[in-house]
Amino acid sequence: MTVVVQAVIPAAGQGTRMLPATAVLPKELLPLVDRPMIEYAVEEAIASGITDIIVVLNSAKLQIKEHLTRRFAGVRLAFAFQEEARGLGHAVSCAAACLGDRPFAILLPDEIFVDARPCLRQLLDVFEPTQGGVLAVQRVPRAAIGRYGVVGGDACGSGLIKVTDLVEKPKPEAAPSDLAIVGRYVVHPDLLPALQQTPPGIKGEIQLTDALRTLNGRRPLFAQVFAGRRYDVGNTRDYLRANLELGLESEEYGDDLVAAVRAWIRRSRDRRARP
Ligand code: G1P
Repeated sequence: MTVVVQAVIPAAGQGTRMLPATAVLPKELLPLVDRPMIEYAVEEAIASGITDIIVVLNSAKLQIKEHLTRRFAGVRLAFAFQEEARGLGHAVSCAAACLGDRPFAILLPDEIFVDARPCLRQLLDVFEPTQGGVLAVQRVPRAAIGRYGVVGGDACGSGLIKVTDLVEKPKPEAAPSDLAIVGRYVVHPDLLPALQQTPPGIKGEIQLTDALRTLNGRRPLFAQVFAGRRYDVGNTRDYLRANLELGLESEEYGDDLVAAVRAWIRRSRDRRARP
């Protein structure tokens, strides 16, 4: 049985959805409660059994390399560079020289997953017995489906789907289902040559979903509806919500923050009740 030990974390994006904060700090280093957000993806990978992490950066984001090298000694870190904004598929292919001929994981660091069993571990628990590729998916409202890669397929277990089709950012009426791909993947190394052959897709970018689609059929590909919560911390609204909710749950700051939120609610109720 092949076990997955390598993971790619694409972190070369420009963070335009979070300007002006990202004008001074890469998005991946913005704090979530008390740590840069990229640490959550690194911790999730380590907790899932990953020993080798390849972070894809660009030369304007070297702070990420400095920070991770200082913080994580127990994992092998490598850094690859994507200097042009050519899409997620292209970012992953920039890590090719650091990847061997074995399956690997991909974690998008601007998505945070919270569950007792790390999201990547949930995918590896599907990968290990089946040796098929695995994508984390979430049901999303039709109106939001066009923001995601979307899978179609057949249910084959609890929250598990055998994928027969994938489409990147479909029009809602053309979406094969309401199952959106979210930022965790386990893929086979033949993805890398497939990415080389993949022409730019939607938004003129090389899409991971398009390359996975060309490979589908050669070997099984599964989608797992993950257990737990997800925050898309690459947009300010969810970023603030994640800071609030994870703060309320934090061992160190939770009690103080819960008291502050309660007091805030009381004050705003009183203000509303005043004539
Ligand atoms: C990327 C992927 C998309 C996936 C999404 C998850 O899109 O291309 O398939 O559904 O991440 O967040 P992006 O958010 O980079 O546009």
